[in-house]
Amino acid sequence: MSSSFEVWMKEVQARVEAALDHLLPKASLAPTRLHEAMRYAALGGGKRVRPLLAFAAGEVAGADVARLDIVSAAIECIHAYSLVHDDMPCMDDDVLRRGRPTVHVQYDEATALLVGDSLQTEAFQLIADHVLADDARVQLEMARILAQASGSRGMAGGQAIDLDAVGKSLTLPELEFMHIHKTGALIRASVALGARCSGGAGLSAAELEHLDRYARCIGLAFQVVDDVLDYEAPTESLGKTAGKDAANNKPTYVSLLGLGRAKEMARELRDEAAAALARLGGTGGRTQRLAELADFVVLRRF
Ligand code: IPE
Ligand code: IPE
Ligand code: MG
Ligand code: MG
Ligand code: MG
Repeated sequence: MSSSFEVWMKEVQARVEAALDHLLPKASLAPTRLHEAMRYAALGGGKRVRPLLAFAAGEVAGADVARLDIVSAAIECIHAYSLVHDDMPCMDDDVLRRGRPTVHVQYDEATALLVGDSLQTEAFQLIADHVLADDARVQLEMARILAQASGSRGMAGGQAIDLDAVGKSLTLPELEFMHIHKTGALIRASVALGARCSGGAGLSAAELEHLDRYARCIGLAFQVVDDVLDYEAPTESLGKTAGKDAANNKPTYVSLLGLGRAKEMARELRDEAAAALARLGGTGGRTQRLAELADFVVLRRF
């Protein structure tokens, strides 16, 4: 991984933190406890992988960074909401997230529920409040992409399958279907939204299709690696309790395929993503950040 990648990554992470800090309701605004808890959930942690993907896709499309800030903040609101609810006792029942107590532990369950609700609607308010595309129809399409990726046809649907799968052994296609929805959908949307933040005509349909192929591979790879890390990484580096999937009796890529084959699958998906980028091509190394992110997703230890 080049050091310039790390510098770029830190820059984007800092931009996203600043954007969320600026855009989320201040903790002093009533109801103060809810606003404080929303900020606790969304600020000061996380790898910001989805914003990094949006910025990298935006680079391919020549997107305006101020628009990417808003889109990234909206995506992180959805992601943070999904984590707050995922950790609740009625779902995975986790007490540690990003190295800190989960929202329902730090506050209470009702507040965690409302934090999720409020972060979700905040995401769509951000998209409604800011100009993100030159063509209003494209902006409307962006709202639709995020809605579809978040709801029952996307992340929330995947979470329903995940809960239903506890204690069951899924087939590989069933497990893939679950992962594509619960995690892949929002990652796919991050790339799609970043690519649509450009002015003018934007990318061609063929270019968007290559990007989407890349995003689908990375989205699945991301959850395969999450399963691997849950199995083999320590709590201290994960910032969340290790070994929870086995403890909760969840079917994962590791439980179905074994550790070695799960890792191999993540690498195969990375290679497939790289092939999609090669088909996208273009001059000036415009896909470099996306290629580096594909490596990051597979090689990360947290
Ligand atoms: C964790 O996501 C939950 C999954 C969808 C696998 P991340 O690993 O992106 O969590 P943060 O944002 O970096 O904490
Ligand atoms: C969560 O998957 C996916 C979400 C939509 C939040 P996990 O339940 O495996 O995520 P972690 O491991 O708790 O972060
Ligand atoms: Mg879960
Ligand atoms: Mg979980
Ligand atoms: Mg996990």
